Amino acid sequence: MPIGVFRSARRLIGTHAFRLAALYFLVFAASVLGVLLFVYLTSADFVERQTEATLDAEITGLAEQYAQRGLSGLIQIVAARSAGDRGDAMIYLVTDPDGKPFAGNIAAWPPGVPLHSAWLSFTLERVVNGRPELHPARGRLFIIPGGYRLLVGRDVSDGAAFRGQVRATLLWAGLVALGIGVIGGTVMSRNLLRRVEQVNRTSERVMAGNLSDRVPLRGTSDEFDQLALNLNRMLDQIERLMTAMREVTDDVAHDLRTPLSRLRTRLERALVPPSEAGAAAGSAQNEAIRAAIEEADRLLATFNALLRIAELESGARRDNTEPLDLAEVARSAGELYEPVAEEKGFTLNVLAEPGVRIRGDRHLLSQALANLLDNAVKYAGGGELELRVFTESGQAVLEVADRGPGIPEADRQNVLDRFVRLEPSRTTPGNGLGLSLVRAIVQRHDGSVTLDDNTPGLRVRLKFARLPT
Ligand SMILES: Nc1ncnc2c1ncn2[C@@H]1O[C@H](COP(=O)(O)OP(=O)(O)O)[C@@H](O)[C@H]1O
Ligand SMILES: [Mg+2]
Repeated sequence: MPIGVFRSARRLIGTHAFRLAALYFLVFAASVLGVLLFVYLTSADFVERQTEATLDAEITGLAEQYAQRGLSGLIQIVAARSAGDRGDAMIYLVTDPDGKPFAGNIAAWPPGVPLHSAWLSFTLERVVNGRPELHPARGRLFIIPGGYRLLVGRDVSDGAAFRGQVRATLLWAGLVALGIGVIGGTVMSRNLLRRVEQVNRTSERVMAGNLSDRVPLRGTSDEFDQLALNLNRMLDQIERLMTAMREVTDDVAHDLRTPLSRLRTRLERALVPPSEAGAAAGSAQNEAIRAAIEEADRLLATFNALLRIAELESGARRDNTEPLDLAEVARSAGELYEPVAEEKGFTLNVLAEPGVRIRGDRHLLSQALANLLDNAVKYAGGGELELRVFTESGQAVLEVADRGPGIPEADRQNVLDRFVRLEPSRTTPGNGLGLSLVRAIVQRHDGSVTLDDNTPGLRVRLKFARLPT
């Protein structure tokens, strides 16, 4: 299960849709974080500046008091302001030149703070609810002539707490944005992907020969529906053209078959019976007529094969299927071909797993096997020839494998089409319809044909739905 999840996650990440979603999410997250950071920095700055303004105003006020009423007046005011907690967290301290406190609401000059800098930052120990706490503070120093010092400060723990709060909010907002982005991106790309995959699946099925398959529509009339609609129309047109072309071929085959048979009969009649063939001239004439009859036979075979394929593909043939054991079909085909194969230098091995049953038409399946064995004998030249029956991923497989030259990968799909014969085979007799008939037979059984490299040689596999044993 985890491997499957990993694999599908990797596949998802590799898609264009996912990358697009990820890009959108990054832009989205960056702008959210940018706004939050801006809010944080400006608000922190605002609080700080307000503190400084307050301290400045207080120092200015106290300096004026000092100018009017002297040191004792200042000390009085400081003592008054320090008395009682006014709730504004203000800090006051007046010291003598040695730093000894005179008046104020803190006990001593904050430790570690120089005695002369204008702006100070320090920590203050405060007792809150009976417990000592360290509070950050900010202060302003006013040096009174004579070396006395006035410190006005403010506990800024509220500001720090505020900043902490904003930071935490920022973090959470970032995490939430990340979560939304990841989920949203995944859902979005999944959604897109599913529709692209529908198109891909249909295309694959059409290419595999299922020309009547169509991309499902959603009825949303969005771009994907439009794409599906256009593809479907294109497929309709292709199907129409293909059907028309096939019909022409089939009609030609059908219409020519009768006159051709008649021609053949006449030729046969024209043959001079052996008893009357006294002269050499008569026998030369007979030879020519025999050659013509052979030619007519080949043409008739081609027409018959074409019509058989047409019949299978149009579904016009009567259903003759029955449950059958593939091993039996393979063995009887093997027996039939054994003498021919041996004569041509092949060793034919039938390796049939027993009990592999499918629902099929015995006659058609034997015909398909015969075509494959015929090809092997014709094109492989000799060596091992294997006929196997087995089960793979729950499917029944009928395989013919030879050790000949095989078929280049680029041609493996083409040779299944009508009249396709590869260049090296042009000199051997044949019409290029053998494999087309195999495919039509297999499709009739809702199965599939695959051509593979037998390293070396050709390996043809016919796969069918297996019947439960
Ligand atoms: N076993 C094979 N080894 C090599 N080539 C093959 C084999 N079977 C078929 N072919 C190639 O595929 C072509 C199509 O085969 P087929 O449809 O049976 O037509 P035909 O046998 O009449 O030529 C052949 O002409 C040949 O080029
Ligand atoms: Mg053939």
